[in-house]
Amino acid sequence: MAFIKDGKRIVDLRSDTVTQPTPEMREAMFNAEVGDDVFGDDPTVNRLEAMAAERMGKEAALFVASGTMGNLVALLTHCQRGHEAILGDQSHTFLNEAGGAAALGGIHPRMVKNQPDGTLLLPDIQAAIRDENVHHPRTRLVCLENTHNYCFGTPLRAEYTQAVGELAHSHGLKLHIDGARIFNAAVALCVDVKELAAPADSIQFCLSKGLGAPVGSLLCGARAFIYEARRNRKMVGGGMRQAGVLAAAGIVSLTKMVDRLAQDHANARRLMQGIAEIPGLVVEPVHTNLVFFRFAPEVKMSEAEFVQALEQRDVRLLSLGPRRFRVVTHCWIDADDIESALDAMREVMRKA
Ligand SMILES: Cc1ncc(COP(=O)(O)O)c(C=O)c1O
Repeated sequence: MAFIKDGKRIVDLRSDTVTQPTPEMREAMFNAEVGDDVFGDDPTVNRLEAMAAERMGKEAALFVASGTMGNLVALLTHCQRGHEAILGDQSHTFLNEAGGAAALGGIHPRMVKNQPDGTLLLPDIQAAIRDENVHHPRTRLVCLENTHNYCFGTPLRAEYTQAVGELAHSHGLKLHIDGARIFNAAVALCVDVKELAAPADSIQFCLSKGLGAPVGSLLCGARAFIYEARRNRKMVGGGMRQAGVLAAAGIVSLTKMVDRLAQDHANARRLMQGIAEIPGLVVEPVHTNLVFFRFAPEVKMSEAEFVQALEQRDVRLLSLGPRRFRVVTHCWIDADDIESALDAMREVMRKA
Protein backbone atom coordinates (compact mmCIF):
# COMPACT_ATOMS: atom_id res chain seq x y z
CA MET A 1 0.00 0.00 0.00
CA ALA A 2 1.29 3.44 -0.84
CA PHE A 3 0.05 7.01 -0.80
CA ILE A 4 -0.10 8.33 -4.37
CA LYS A 5 -0.69 12.04 -5.03
CA ASP A 6 -0.67 13.51 -8.55
CA GLY A 7 0.90 10.26 -9.75
CA LYS A 8 3.76 10.51 -7.21
CA ARG A 9 4.44 8.23 -4.25
CA ILE A 10 4.33 10.15 -0.94
CA VAL A 11 6.26 8.85 2.06
CA ASP A 12 4.09 10.14 4.90
CA LEU A 13 5.93 9.62 8.18
CA ARG A 14 4.10 12.29 10.21
CA SER A 15 2.14 9.77 12.29
CA ASP A 16 0.63 6.29 12.27
CA THR A 17 -2.73 8.09 12.31
CA VAL A 18 -2.35 8.86 8.58
CA THR A 19 -2.96 5.19 7.70
CA GLN A 20 -5.99 4.59 5.51
CA PRO A 21 -8.27 1.54 5.64
CA THR A 22 -6.89 -1.47 3.80
CA PRO A 23 -8.89 -2.99 0.90
CA GLU A 24 -10.00 -5.77 3.29
CA MET A 25 -11.27 -3.17 5.77
CA ARG A 26 -13.19 -1.32 3.06
CA GLU A 27 -14.78 -4.59 1.99
CA ALA A 28 -15.71 -5.43 5.60
CA MET A 29 -17.14 -1.92 6.10
CA PHE A 30 -19.21 -2.23 2.91
CA ASN A 31 -20.68 -5.55 4.02
CA ALA A 32 -21.04 -4.77 7.74
CA GLU A 33 -24.21 -5.89 9.46
CA VAL A 34 -25.41 -2.90 11.49
CA GLY A 35 -28.04 -1.74 14.00
CA ASP A 36 -28.56 1.13 16.42
CA ASP A 37 -25.64 0.79 18.80
CA VAL A 38 -27.14 3.15 21.40
CA PHE A 39 -29.90 0.52 21.74
CA GLY A 40 -27.16 -2.15 21.86
CA ASP A 41 -28.45 -3.47 18.51
CA ASP A 42 -25.33 -3.31 16.36
CA PRO A 43 -24.01 -6.87 16.00
CA THR A 44 -20.68 -5.75 14.53
CA VAL A 45 -19.97 -3.30 17.37
CA ASN A 46 -20.99 -5.97 19.88
CA ARG A 47 -18.58 -8.42 18.23
CA LEU A 48 -15.72 -5.92 18.24
CA GLU A 49 -16.33 -5.06 21.91
CA ALA A 50 -16.37 -8.75 22.85
CA MET A 51 -13.15 -9.36 20.89
CA ALA A 52 -11.43 -6.35 22.48
CA ALA A 53 -12.42 -7.40 26.00
CA GLU A 54 -11.14 -10.91 25.33
CA ARG A 55 -7.82 -9.66 23.89
CA MET A 56 -7.23 -7.39 26.90
CA GLY A 57 -8.34 -10.01 29.44
CA LYS A 58 -11.13 -7.74 30.74
CA GLU A 59 -14.83 -8.43 31.28
CA ALA A 60 -16.17 -5.83 28.89
CA ALA A 61 -15.28 -3.15 26.36
CA LEU A 62 -16.80 -0.01 24.87
CA PHE A 63 -16.26 1.27 21.32
CA VAL A 64 -15.46 5.01 21.37
CA ALA A 65 -14.70 7.53 18.66
CA SER A 66 -11.06 8.21 19.51
CA GLY A 67 -8.24 7.69 21.95
CA THR A 68 -9.00 11.08 23.45
CA MET A 69 -12.59 10.04 24.06
CA GLY A 70 -11.46 6.71 25.54
CA ASN A 71 -9.19 8.44 28.04
CA LEU A 72 -11.77 11.13 28.84
CA VAL A 73 -14.55 8.60 29.44
CA ALA A 74 -12.19 6.53 31.60
CA LEU A 75 -11.28 9.54 33.76
CA LEU A 76 -14.93 10.66 34.01
CA THR A 77 -15.90 7.15 35.11
CA HIS A 78 -13.14 6.68 37.70
CA CYS A 79 -13.28 10.20 39.16
CA GLN A 80 -15.85 12.66 40.46
CA ARG A 81 -15.50 16.46 40.35
CA GLY A 82 -12.69 17.59 42.65
CA HIS A 83 -10.89 14.25 42.52
CA GLU A 84 -7.26 14.20 41.50
CA ALA A 85 -5.67 12.04 38.79
CA ILE A 86 -1.90 11.42 38.74
CA LEU A 87 -0.55 11.88 35.22
CA GLY A 88 2.92 11.91 33.67
CA ASP A 89 4.08 15.40 32.72
CA GLN A 90 4.82 14.10 29.19
CA SER A 91 1.60 12.12 28.88
CA HIS A 92 -0.68 12.60 25.91
CA THR A 93 -3.66 13.00 28.25
CA PHE A 94 -2.01 15.91 30.05
CA LEU A 95 -0.42 17.58 27.01
CA ASN A 96 -2.68 16.93 24.06
CA GLU A 97 -6.26 16.17 24.98
CA ALA A 98 -7.44 19.77 25.37
CA GLY A 99 -7.62 19.48 29.17
CA GLY A 100 -10.91 17.60 28.75
CA ALA A 101 -10.83 15.86 32.13
CA ALA A 102 -10.48 19.22 33.91
CA ALA A 103 -12.79 21.16 31.60
CA LEU A 104 -15.60 18.62 31.44
CA GLY A 105 -15.07 16.52 34.57
CA GLY A 106 -13.66 18.96 37.14
CA ILE A 107 -10.81 16.45 37.58
CA HIS A 108 -7.64 17.95 39.01
CA PRO A 109 -4.48 16.77 37.21
CA ARG A 110 -1.46 16.05 39.42
CA MET A 111 1.74 16.02 37.41
CA VAL A 112 4.53 13.53 38.08
CA LYS A 113 7.74 13.73 36.06
CA ASN A 114 8.02 11.14 33.31
CA GLN A 115 11.41 9.44 33.15
CA PRO A 116 12.96 9.18 29.65
CA ASP A 117 11.66 5.58 29.45
CA GLY A 118 8.07 6.73 29.99
CA THR A 119 7.82 5.45 33.56
CA LEU A 120 6.82 7.39 36.66
CA LEU A 121 9.10 6.57 39.59
CA LEU A 122 7.24 4.68 42.30
CA PRO A 123 8.46 7.07 45.07
CA ASP A 124 7.23 10.00 42.96
CA ILE A 125 3.79 8.41 42.62
CA GLN A 126 3.79 7.64 46.34
CA ALA A 127 4.70 11.25 47.16
CA ALA A 128 1.92 12.56 44.92
CA ILE A 129 -0.83 10.59 46.67
CA ARG A 130 -2.72 12.95 49.00
CA ASP A 131 -3.35 12.42 52.68
CA GLU A 132 -6.89 12.82 53.89
CA ASN A 133 -6.98 16.54 54.63
CA VAL A 134 -9.70 19.13 54.23
CA HIS A 135 -7.30 21.29 52.17
CA HIS A 136 -6.56 18.65 49.53
CA PRO A 137 -8.31 17.18 46.55
CA ARG A 138 -8.76 13.41 46.94
CA THR A 139 -6.43 11.28 44.82
CA ARG A 140 -8.45 8.76 42.88
CA LEU A 141 -6.50 7.55 39.87
CA VAL A 142 -3.02 6.87 38.46
CA CYS A 143 -2.57 6.97 34.67
CA LEU A 144 0.21 5.36 32.64
CA GLU A 145 0.84 5.49 28.87
CA ASN A 146 2.08 2.42 26.97
CA THR A 147 3.89 2.79 24.60
CA HIS A 148 4.89 6.26 25.70
CA ASN A 149 4.58 8.61 22.74
CA TYR A 150 6.74 11.54 23.86
CA CYS A 151 9.20 9.28 25.68
CA PHE A 152 10.49 7.81 22.41
CA GLY A 153 7.75 5.22 21.96
CA THR A 154 9.14 3.19 24.85
CA PRO A 155 7.10 0.15 25.92
CA LEU A 156 6.42 -0.20 29.65
CA ARG A 157 7.14 -3.69 30.97
CA ALA A 158 4.48 -5.81 32.67
CA GLU A 159 6.50 -5.98 35.93
CA TYR A 160 6.64 -2.18 36.13
CA THR A 161 2.92 -1.81 35.45
CA GLN A 162 2.24 -4.51 38.03
CA ALA A 163 4.24 -2.56 40.64
CA VAL A 164 2.32 0.66 39.86
CA GLY A 165 -0.96 -1.27 40.06
CA GLU A 166 -0.02 -2.66 43.48
CA LEU A 167 0.96 0.79 44.75
CA ALA A 168 -2.25 2.37 43.45
CA HIS A 169 -4.49 -0.38 44.77
CA SER A 170 -2.82 -0.39 48.19
CA HIS A 171 -4.00 3.24 48.51
CA GLY A 172 -7.50 2.51 47.21
CA LEU A 173 -6.71 4.15 43.85
CA LYS A 174 -7.48 2.89 40.36
CA LEU A 175 -5.00 2.46 37.50
CA HIS A 176 -5.84 3.53 33.94
CA ILE A 177 -3.58 2.82 30.97
CA ASP A 178 -3.61 4.97 27.86
CA GLY A 179 -2.68 2.08 25.61
CA ALA A 180 -3.11 3.95 22.34
CA ARG A 181 -0.21 1.82 21.02
CA ILE A 182 -0.39 -1.09 23.50
CA PHE A 183 -0.09 -3.67 20.70
CA ASN A 184 3.21 -2.06 19.63
CA ALA A 185 4.35 -2.57 23.22
CA ALA A 186 3.22 -6.20 23.27
CA VAL A 187 4.94 -6.95 19.95
CA ALA A 188 8.16 -5.18 20.98
CA LEU A 189 8.30 -6.95 24.35
CA CYS A 190 7.14 -10.31 22.88
CA VAL A 191 4.41 -10.69 25.50
CA ASP A 192 0.67 -11.28 25.36
CA VAL A 193 -1.05 -7.90 25.54
CA LYS A 194 -3.12 -9.29 28.45
CA GLU A 195 0.01 -9.26 30.62
CA LEU A 196 0.47 -5.54 30.00
CA ALA A 197 -3.20 -4.81 30.68
CA ALA A 198 -3.66 -7.11 33.70
CA PRO A 199 -2.74 -4.67 36.50
CA ALA A 200 -5.02 -1.93 35.09
CA ASP A 201 -8.60 -1.25 36.10
CA SER A 202 -9.13 0.24 32.65
CA ILE A 203 -7.21 0.46 29.40
CA GLN A 204 -7.98 2.20 26.14
CA PHE A 205 -6.31 1.24 22.87
CA CYS A 206 -6.56 2.79 19.41
CA LEU A 207 -7.57 1.03 16.22
CA SER A 208 -6.80 4.09 14.14
CA LYS A 209 -3.02 4.19 14.58
CA GLY A 210 -0.68 1.31 13.69
CA LEU A 211 -3.66 -1.05 13.39
CA GLY A 212 -4.80 0.92 10.35
CA ALA A 213 -8.55 1.39 10.96
CA PRO A 214 -10.04 4.74 9.95
CA VAL A 215 -11.70 5.53 13.31
CA GLY A 216 -12.07 4.24 16.82
CA SER A 217 -10.71 3.07 20.13
CA LEU A 218 -11.81 0.57 22.73
CA LEU A 219 -12.07 1.22 26.44
CA CYS A 220 -11.83 -2.04 28.38
CA GLY A 221 -12.43 -2.91 32.02
CA ALA A 222 -14.75 -4.63 34.48
CA ARG A 223 -18.41 -5.02 33.47
CA ALA A 224 -19.66 -2.53 36.10
CA PHE A 225 -17.04 0.03 35.02
CA ILE A 226 -17.99 -0.28 31.35
CA TYR A 227 -21.69 0.06 32.27
CA GLU A 228 -20.94 3.48 33.82
CA ALA A 229 -18.52 4.37 31.01
CA ARG A 230 -21.31 3.79 28.46
CA ARG A 231 -23.37 6.49 30.20
CA ASN A 232 -20.39 8.88 30.18
CA ARG A 233 -19.75 8.15 26.50
CA LYS A 234 -23.36 9.18 25.83
CA MET A 235 -22.85 12.34 27.90
CA VAL A 236 -19.91 13.46 25.78
CA GLY A 237 -21.84 12.81 22.60
CA GLY A 238 -20.11 9.56 21.72
CA GLY A 239 -23.19 7.36 21.39
CA MET A 240 -22.95 6.42 17.71
CA ARG A 241 -25.76 4.71 15.85
CA GLN A 242 -24.90 2.34 12.95
CA ALA A 243 -21.28 2.32 14.09
CA GLY A 244 -20.83 -1.24 12.85
CA VAL A 245 -19.57 0.27 9.59
CA LEU A 246 -16.57 1.51 11.60
CA ALA A 247 -16.34 -1.47 13.94
CA ALA A 248 -16.04 -3.79 10.92
CA ALA A 249 -12.70 -2.18 10.06
CA GLY A 250 -11.65 -2.55 13.70
CA ILE A 251 -12.30 -6.29 13.59
CA VAL A 252 -9.90 -6.52 10.65
CA SER A 253 -7.40 -4.48 12.71
CA LEU A 254 -7.53 -6.94 15.57
CA THR A 255 -7.43 -10.07 13.44
CA LYS A 256 -4.98 -9.06 10.70
CA MET A 257 -2.93 -6.03 11.69
CA VAL A 258 -1.35 -6.85 15.05
CA ASP A 259 1.45 -9.27 14.19
CA ARG A 260 2.66 -7.14 11.26
CA LEU A 261 3.59 -4.31 13.69
CA ALA A 262 6.97 -6.07 13.94
CA GLN A 263 7.67 -4.89 10.37
CA ASP A 264 7.01 -1.28 11.40
CA HIS A 265 9.47 -1.70 14.26
CA ALA A 266 12.11 -3.14 11.91
CA ASN A 267 11.54 -0.22 9.50
CA ALA A 268 11.87 2.24 12.39
CA ARG A 269 15.20 0.65 13.41
CA ARG A 270 16.43 0.94 9.80
CA LEU A 271 15.43 4.62 9.81
CA MET A 272 17.30 5.14 13.07
CA GLN A 273 20.46 3.49 11.67
CA GLY A 274 20.25 5.57 8.48
CA ILE A 275 19.62 8.86 10.30
CA ALA A 276 22.54 8.14 12.67
CA GLU A 277 24.86 8.18 9.63
CA ILE A 278 23.65 11.56 8.33
CA PRO A 279 25.96 14.41 9.38
CA GLY A 280 24.03 17.09 11.27
CA LEU A 281 21.32 14.77 12.61
CA VAL A 282 21.30 13.14 16.06
CA VAL A 283 18.86 10.29 16.57
CA GLU A 284 17.43 8.77 19.77
CA PRO A 285 17.35 5.00 20.35
CA VAL A 286 14.25 3.42 18.82
CA HIS A 287 12.01 1.02 20.74
CA THR A 288 8.90 0.59 18.61
CA ASN A 289 7.58 2.58 15.60
CA LEU A 290 8.39 6.15 16.71
CA VAL A 291 11.72 7.71 15.74
CA PHE A 292 12.88 10.99 17.29
CA PHE A 293 15.86 13.00 16.08
CA ARG A 294 17.23 16.52 16.27
CA PHE A 295 19.64 18.87 14.57
CA ALA A 296 23.23 18.81 15.79
CA PRO A 297 24.30 22.17 17.32
CA GLU A 298 26.19 23.28 14.17
CA VAL A 299 23.12 23.07 11.87
CA LYS A 300 21.89 26.52 10.82
CA MET A 301 18.76 25.47 8.89
CA SER A 302 15.39 26.11 10.58
CA GLU A 303 12.97 23.28 11.36
CA ALA A 304 10.46 24.70 8.90
CA GLU A 305 13.07 24.78 6.10
CA PHE A 306 13.96 21.13 6.77
CA VAL A 307 10.32 20.03 6.74
CA GLN A 308 9.62 22.02 3.59
CA ALA A 309 12.69 20.72 1.75
CA LEU A 310 11.61 17.16 2.51
CA GLU A 311 8.02 17.90 1.50
CA GLN A 312 9.37 19.02 -1.89
CA ARG A 313 10.95 15.56 -2.13
CA ASP A 314 7.61 13.89 -1.23
CA VAL A 315 8.64 12.98 2.31
CA ARG A 316 6.52 14.17 5.22
CA LEU A 317 7.53 14.34 8.87
CA LEU A 318 6.56 16.25 11.99
CA SER A 319 8.55 19.08 13.53
CA LEU A 320 8.26 18.94 17.31
CA GLY A 321 10.45 22.02 17.79
CA PRO A 322 12.85 23.34 18.96
CA ARG A 323 15.19 21.57 16.48
CA ARG A 324 13.42 18.24 17.06
CA PHE A 325 11.52 15.97 14.68
CA ARG A 326 9.47 12.79 14.78
CA VAL A 327 9.01 10.17 12.10
CA VAL A 328 6.61 7.25 12.50
CA THR A 329 6.51 3.97 10.61
CA HIS A 330 3.22 2.24 9.83
CA CYS A 331 1.48 -0.15 7.44
CA TRP A 332 1.58 2.32 4.52
CA ILE A 333 5.37 2.53 4.67
CA ASP A 334 7.59 -0.22 3.28
CA ALA A 335 11.36 -0.79 3.21
CA ASP A 336 11.71 1.12 -0.12
CA ASP A 337 9.95 4.13 1.42
CA ILE A 338 12.47 4.09 4.25
CA GLU A 339 15.35 4.21 1.77
CA SER A 340 13.63 7.03 -0.18
CA ALA A 341 13.17 9.02 3.05
CA LEU A 342 16.82 8.51 4.00
CA ASP A 343 17.99 9.55 0.50
CA ALA A 344 15.90 12.72 0.77
CA MET A 345 17.26 13.52 4.26
CA ARG A 346 20.85 12.98 3.09
CA GLU A 347 20.34 15.31 0.14
CA VAL A 348 18.70 18.03 2.24
CA MET A 349 21.37 17.83 4.95
CA ARG A 350 24.20 18.03 2.36
CA LYS A 351 22.83 21.44 1.45
CA ALA A 352 22.22 22.52 5.06
C1 LIG B 1 -0.45 8.10 23.48
C2 LIG B 1 -1.69 8.66 22.86
N1 LIG B 1 -2.83 8.65 23.55
C3 LIG B 1 -3.98 9.12 23.05
C4 LIG B 1 -4.01 9.63 21.76
C5 LIG B 1 -5.30 10.21 21.25
O1 LIG B 1 -5.86 9.47 20.20
P1 LIG B 1 -6.88 10.16 19.18
O2 LIG B 1 -6.04 10.95 18.24
O3 LIG B 1 -7.56 8.98 18.55
O4 LIG B 1 -7.81 11.00 19.97
C6 LIG B 1 -2.85 9.67 21.00
C7 LIG B 1 -2.87 10.23 19.64
O5 LIG B 1 -1.88 10.38 18.96
C8 LIG B 1 -1.65 9.18 21.57
O6 LIG B 1 -0.49 9.20 20.89
